[in-house]
Amino acid sequence: MKFFIDTANLEQIKEANDMGVLDGVTTNPTLMAREGIKGEENCRKHYVDICNIVNGDVSAEVIATDYEGMTREGEELAALHQNIVVKVPCTADGIKAIKYFSGKNIRTNCTLVFSPGQALLAAKAGATYVSPFVGRLDDISSDGVELVGKIVDMYTFYGFDTRVLAASIRSAQHIIQCVEAGADVATCPLAAIKGLLKHPLTDSGLATFLADHQQVNS
Ligand code: G3P
Repeated sequence: MKFFIDTANLEQIKEANDMGVLDGVTTNPTLMAREGIKGEENCRKHYVDICNIVNGDVSAEVIATDYEGMTREGEELAALHQNIVVKVPCTADGIKAIKYFSGKNIRTNCTLVFSPGQALLAAKAGATYVSPFVGRLDDISSDGVELVGKIVDMYTFYGFDTRVLAASIRSAQHIIQCVEAGADVATCPLAAIKGLLKHPLTDSGLATFLADHQQVNS
């Protein structure tokens, strides 16, 4: 089970990386905009900055929506750093672009996936990762974790190499549910990763240990 952080915030990426459990980073145009990063040159510099912090896969999303634009932009992004994974939306042109990238040994993350059928096409096109959006399905009273489990079962049954990257994770609970569903990766906000640590019995147990130590050592 790999942990990616889902942010373009360099401080949060450093904090998660310093914990020693980070395997990669995912970004998207919204997350880049949230950091105030404007213009192609600044975006590309930011991706390289992220790659220089984390020794793992870094997803950088294409902005183009047509096949020619996606392939051109994806090749430029992939050339920025060996850790870049080209993030491509799950559209007809996107699936065609993923097939093209897979023939060029450029790794891809098929994003905005909300159904097993979309995940099937991504795998058949040779995507490195597929990103089912867990939280956004839950938002519309559907079941995001159930989708993760269905994709894992389908890929296992047919022996697809595509890794299931659970995205749109909103909580520590989501992470554990995705682990139980067999996801290969969860990409999470820093708060959800830190949420895994929280347990009142850990806090009260540590307080008791320290108080007992203090009592006999003072
Ligand atoms: O990786 C996709 C993710 O960033 C979407 O998350 O919370 O905007 O649904 P969210």
